[in-house]
Amino acid sequence: MLFSGFSKILLGALSLATAGCCTPLSPSSDAACKAIDLALPLGRVNYPDSPTYAQENHYWSNRQTDNIAPACFVAPENTLEVAATMKVLASLNTQFSVKGGGHTAFAGGSNSDGGVTVDLMYLTTLNVSSDRKTVSIGAGNRWINVSEALDTLGLVVAGGRVADVGVSGLILGGGISFFSGMYGWACDNVRNYELVLASGLIVNASPTENEDLFWALRGGGGSSFGIVTRFDMGAYEQPGGNIWHSSLIIPGAANASAIAAYQNLTVNGMPSDNKAHSYMVLTHMDMLGGYAVISDLFHADLPNTADSAHETVPEVFVPFESLPTITKSKSIDNVSTISRAIDVPYGSRQTWWDTTIKATDPSLLIDIVPLWQDHVEKLIAAANGTAVTPYLAYQAIPLNVLKAMEVNGGNALGLKQSDGPLMLIQVAAQWSDSALDELMERSSEGVIGKINDLAKSRGLSHGFVYANYAGNSQSVFESYGADNHAKLKQVAMKWDPEGILRKLWRGYFKL
Ligand SMILES: Cc1cc2nc3c(=O)[nH]c(=O)nc-3n(C[C@H](O)[C@H](O)[C@H](O)COP(=O)(O)OP(=O)(O)OC[C@H]3O[C@@H](n4cnc5c(N)ncnc54)[C@H](O)[C@@H]3O)c2cc1C
Ligand SMILES: *[C@@H]1O[C@H](CO)[C@@H](O)[C@H](O)[C@H]1NC(C)=O
Ligand SMILES: *[C@@H]1O[C@H](CO)[C@@H](O)[C@H](O)[C@H]1NC(C)=O
Ligand SMILES: *[C@@H]1O[C@H](CO)[C@@H](O)[C@H](O)[C@H]1NC(C)=O
Ligand SMILES: *[C@@H]1O[C@H](CO)[C@@H](O)[C@H](O)[C@H]1NC(C)=O
Ligand SMILES: *[C@@H]1O[C@H](CO)[C@@H](O)[C@H](O)[C@H]1NC(C)=O
Ligand SMILES: *[C@@H]1O[C@H](CO)[C@@H](O)[C@H](O)[C@H]1NC(C)=O
Repeated sequence: MLFSGFSKILLGALSLATAGCCTPLSPSSDAACKAIDLALPLGRVNYPDSPTYAQENHYWSNRQTDNIAPACFVAPENTLEVAATMKVLASLNTQFSVKGGGHTAFAGGSNSDGGVTVDLMYLTTLNVSSDRKTVSIGAGNRWINVSEALDTLGLVVAGGRVADVGVSGLILGGGISFFSGMYGWACDNVRNYELVLASGLIVNASPTENEDLFWALRGGGGSSFGIVTRFDMGAYEQPGGNIWHSSLIIPGAANASAIAAYQNLTVNGMPSDNKAHSYMVLTHMDMLGGYAVISDLFHADLPNTADSAHETVPEVFVPFESLPTITKSKSIDNVSTISRAIDVPYGSRQTWWDTTIKATDPSLLIDIVPLWQDHVEKLIAAANGTAVTPYLAYQAIPLNVLKAMEVNGGNALGLKQSDGPLMLIQVAAQWSDSALDELMERSSEGVIGKINDLAKSRGLSHGFVYANYAGNSQSVFESYGADNHAKLKQVAMKWDPEGILRKLWRGYFKL
């Protein structure tokens, strides 16, 4: 015991001498790693030369790890260990970040260069209540872990759509789900949060306990309030966890008719059928012959099961049948299978930016395409043959979703039915050459600005910035409206009066 304790400290000191390809480690991080190592059971703290550290310093976007090295990763195994970690970080004034599933695109989003990164990977409890109405989800789970368990039980949650994404960041920023048409976003479905405050205290937040904190955590992010250790989410019956899914790849030249169909689905289709869900993505890929439109359609009602080819199309999607396609697939699968099929692999540099505009006029949605197309031409030229895949994604926020957001008391996002229907627009790209980083960021930011300007000139702007798709310099919480922004700040001040999290928690968005 003693021996292993000593050798751990020795190893820590040794690793400090060799670590840090990039940023000199601050003395407080070094001290904090050692203090946490002593406070927690053996093996929770990992230093730069260990295999576990290498495994932890592995994120979806290469930009979170390229030239970024925390002094140590700390992986607590339960809520008390998270609390002990928080106390040390606060008392030693140590800069830190928290890794849920690590799917933030930008550098430092959930990794702390030279500081301490708290990795929630061991918080993997998953429990379904005996009445099947609530699932308690440990903060370190990925959505695949949730759906694999729930498919077996014939239950679903309004959670993430993609297998490897972390439950934590997705729920804390909002969370768009296959089932949002019925239940709103993921945050609208949390019945209780368990979290560790800046003080190290463990509290719960629900409609009946610490209601202000409960409201703030529904879209207000984690980094201003505490480290959430468990989400209790509403669960719903869905036989086999199965849903209907169709994926269409449409030639780029038909983008106007595809976007018009998606606009009509948003404004007329989805509100009349809240089991429907869909997104549409424009991209440019050599394997698709250049520009193409990917249209994914989902439905929570299973059409005629006697139809083994699954050719029956839910009525709401029938207008999509007349679009020209390069390929078309239809299936009935469980959520796990679908979420694996749409997973996005690791190994690229990534940027994501977004804005929200009114969805009422198809021509605005079509007229933003050339703004993106100019940007894509510029990126491809600059990449000079190195890999670059650009995306322009349309994600509907129809009236039925806005309405569903109000059912459980409302969230902090500031999205009103009277402003809808809305369209979330995401400009994203993945590439390989780090020399392109700055161009990718500035040019993507530029397209968002141009989209906002065009929308404004037509009286159709809105401006909501979805945190989980945002670029690192976007004004996320300002976009929730002045009242919600002010209220979020007040709640943060109440639960962290000394502003410890504000000062020490790096990355992501600040109130
Ligand atoms: C391939 C892919 C698919 C996606 N699909 C969807 C989708 O279907 N719907 C959708 O809405 N979004 C989607 N997103 C966006 C996704 O919601 C965000 O990337 C989200 O931040 C991911 O959560 P994470 O835990 O993996 O991220 P992380 O990068 O680990 O965390 C994000 C932020 O939350 C903080 N944080 C993490 N855990 C906690 C915690 N327990 N307590 C407090 N703070 C915490 C981190 O410090 C960081 O600031 C997708 C993203 C990717 C890359
Ligand atoms: C909750 O789930 C964990 C594993 O996910 C299990 O070890 C534990 O016994 C469960 N607790 C209850 C109360 O069912
Ligand atoms: C979560 O799912 C992944 C992929 O299936 C698996 O490798 C991992 O072990 C799962 N985690 C837990 C805690 O079950
Ligand atoms: C989900 O679907 C896959 C593929 O069809 C299947 O292998 C798996 O067993 C299914 N899961 C459950 C719980 O039925
Ligand atoms: C969109 O459609 C128009 C008209 O066919 C075409 O000129 C333009 O290149 C298309 N854009 C993309 C990105 O495919
Ligand atoms: C628009 O959507 C409605 C409702 O789903 C549908 O009846 C109608 O055919 C659609 N119109 C077009 C032009 O696709
Ligand atoms: C583009 O790449 C080619 C080789 O693939 C190289 O010869 C050329 O110098 C590059 N041009 C620029 C501007 O980097």
